[in-house]
Amino acid sequence: MRVLLTGGAGYIGSHTALCLLEAGYDVVALDNLSNSCPEALRRVEELTGKKAPLIVGDCTDEATLENVFSQYKIDAVIHFAGLKAVGESVAKPLEYYQNNLDATMMLCRVMKKHGCEALVFSSSATVYGTYPEMPLREDCPTGCTNPYGWTKWISERILTDIAHADPTRSFVLLRYFNPIGAHESGRIGEDPSGIPNNLMPYVCQVASGKLKQLSVFGDDYPTKDGTGERDYIHVMDLAEGHLAAIRYAASHKGVEVFNLGTGEAYSVLNLVHAFEKANGLTIPYRITERRPGDIPVCYADPKKAAEKLGWTAKRDLTTMCRDAWNWQKNNPLGYNVK
Ligand code: NAD
Ligand code: UD1
Repeated sequence: MRVLLTGGAGYIGSHTALCLLEAGYDVVALDNLSNSCPEALRRVEELTGKKAPLIVGDCTDEATLENVFSQYKIDAVIHFAGLKAVGESVAKPLEYYQNNLDATMMLCRVMKKHGCEALVFSSSATVYGTYPEMPLREDCPTGCTNPYGWTKWISERILTDIAHADPTRSFVLLRYFNPIGAHESGRIGEDPSGIPNNLMPYVCQVASGKLKQLSVFGDDYPTKDGTGERDYIHVMDLAEGHLAAIRYAASHKGVEVFNLGTGEAYSVLNLVHAFEKANGLTIPYRITERRPGDIPVCYADPKKAAEKLGWTAKRDLTTMCRDAWNWQKNNPLGYNVK
């Protein structure tokens, strides 16, 4: 079985490529390299001893997709390709709507033409917006607070409508919580450009001395220690969730949405202290103002994925912290080719 990974050179895509190859799938990646580089997939090949061909091209471009589907017999697609920076999406909404929605729609069109019905889509817990009751179940009300989030929400809507109209389609929508960490080899990992927005990459760069100290955004939330709580999930657990989703899509018709999270909530300070303990390091930090748009708490009810996909996250916070630092310390400049 051959799986096309759009955005396959990116953070989650490269870890999923590794997982799929190890499970015996063939993998083809399509990526425009707007936020990644080919080195990630080269290292996946090095780790697995298997080929993962990369086509450099844009998922919004019909001719490019036509080329991929004509060149390879694709049995299923995992659609990672998308722009993902929340702040940037507020500044450049048109770019986000155009890239993320055009990519989803063009992919659906070309897949149909080539008789490829199974699609796994990268959605996000951000579609739960500010819904306050935790844990979040897939049937909780949704709604977003920024253009990035709306591109995920609208893509989910589009895919749901297409699946309802066409019973041969098989779509799985995955709502990721907070992916962190890296493959245990330390050869692939998250390589953010510029100053990281997300907590774990920021902590890693403070640990390496690249950044001076962490700003903890608020300690007056109604949480156990006042700092924001999130459901951090190891990227390899997430990658294994995609394997389960591909198997599900291959054997079910219709559309189904799943949370991919651990169901555990850790505060910013929990994560900082776990990182310090796991790696024998000190992370200098100071408490600052809340970050606009942040919610106090966000964690998944992961039962549906356990029941229907047979998948649960296995790696704990210590492992996430150890693997994140292992990647950072071995690759202080990331893939070093951007
Ligand atoms: P990433 O930026 O590392 O990977 C996305 C990849 O898509 C990049 O390699 C980029 O070059 C590529 N890309 C973007 N637009 C493209 C286009 N039009 N055509 C071809 N390639 C294109 O991000 P990631 O963290 O691996 O995230 C993967 C997916 O998961 C994204 O859709 C993201 O929105 C979603 N997601 C990520 C997180 C997270 O915290 N990382 C959380 C929830 C959802
Ligand atoms: C952010 C995005 C979300 C996206 C997710 C991807 C926002 C508002 N939300 O979520 O849409 O799906 O990334 O993983 O950007 N923190 C600090 N200091 C920092 C960075 C973060 O204290 O330098 C805190 C935050 O306030 C939050 C927690 O750490 O409580 C996690 O932050 P982050 O990693 O950015 O993820 P989210 O805010 O959950």
